[in-house]
Amino acid sequence: MRAGVVVLAAAGALAAWHWARARRARRRGLLRVYMGDVAALYAGARPVRVRGRANLPSGESTHLPETIGAPTSADFPLVVLAGEAAARAGIQACAQNAYALLHDDGLLNRHGAVLLRGLPISTPADFEAFCSALDWRSTKLGGGGTVRTVLAGTVRTASDEPPEHTIEPHMDMAHNGAFPARIGFMMLHGPPEGCGGETVLVDMRHVTRDMQAQGIDAEFARRGGVLYRKKLWSSQKVEHSFTWQRRFFSDAKAGVEAQLPAAGARKWNWTDDDALIFENALPATIVHPETGETLWFNGIHTNHRDYFDLAPHIDTADGSPFDTFYADGGEIEPDTLAKIRGSMWGRAVAVALQSGDVVVVDNRLAAHGRIGWTPGVPRKMLLNHFE
Ligand SMILES: [Fe+2]
Repeated sequence: MRAGVVVLAAAGALAAWHWARARRARRRGLLRVYMGDVAALYAGARPVRVRGRANLPSGESTHLPETIGAPTSADFPLVVLAGEAAARAGIQACAQNAYALLHDDGLLNRHGAVLLRGLPISTPADFEAFCSALDWRSTKLGGGGTVRTVLAGTVRTASDEPPEHTIEPHMDMAHNGAFPARIGFMMLHGPPEGCGGETVLVDMRHVTRDMQAQGIDAEFARRGGVLYRKKLWSSQKVEHSFTWQRRFFSDAKAGVEAQLPAAGARKWNWTDDDALIFENALPATIVHPETGETLWFNGIHTNHRDYFDLAPHIDTADGSPFDTFYADGGEIEPDTLAKIRGSMWGRAVAVALQSGDVVVVDNRLAAHGRIGWTPGVPRKMLLNHFE
């Protein structure tokens, strides 16, 4: 009897999977992979200064490129354009077509980052509807290092850092035991030309090869991986945003502690001042569950204290909220940090996104960041995390 129920349930799930796939197949043709000249897509893009940029960690190092530019290959990011029928077909149909390309055809695993242009979406609610219609489950994880504002369902601002602040390329929550597998970004207001605000994308397959060639991945493996040390204050005691209430979405210590094991925390303590100090250790690399590749995946450089010490809007008078070490407790050499940043920036492209553009990245295959922009310019990027 029980075996019969299991067989029926399995048959039902298989039928639902086939039905969903067939439904997506009917939507094909709304979106098409761009096969034209890549230079035409990014015409007018100017080089973006990296080395010597204000407040950039390792910013003066010769490991960093002087500038980065627009993509020169249609492979990264892959570009998908919505045709005229897309607006008539609606958001749901476009999302089904997008999922057929990204997931069923394996284009996201192959390319790591995909730019979708021309979708009929222009508001946070539209983007939420698009994300909901993709067959990935949305997620909102505690313990992250970025302040965001919820705008619609699971759709949030990508980051509430000050406009002029450049954010190094990174993988979201790679310092955490739980992290989003994929991220959807939507440019709500694209910055005008010449004001900065480019979106930075990095092919992590290249960075992984750089780390292997320089023996950096081997050194982290030899020393047990990466140690992340984190401190979050209480919102009752400080004015800044690095508080456990804000980062773990809970006003109760018990609510925070319940989330710490999933974040990979191996030990934690509360200070007399109600601050939370916790640690977790992770390898510097990860095996992609679908492609089987080993990839450089960690928060070594973006969670190191020199990022926070250099950020003018972050108060580090009472210590840095995050810091990284070798897992044996040893300090990471400044030159190693500069080489990691040199590879991340050296492999980066700067994309001037337009209003309505959507970028989907596999969080392990592609890193993302942003160039600061002129304050007052209404650039706004939205984000949705997927499991
Ligand atoms: Fe991010």
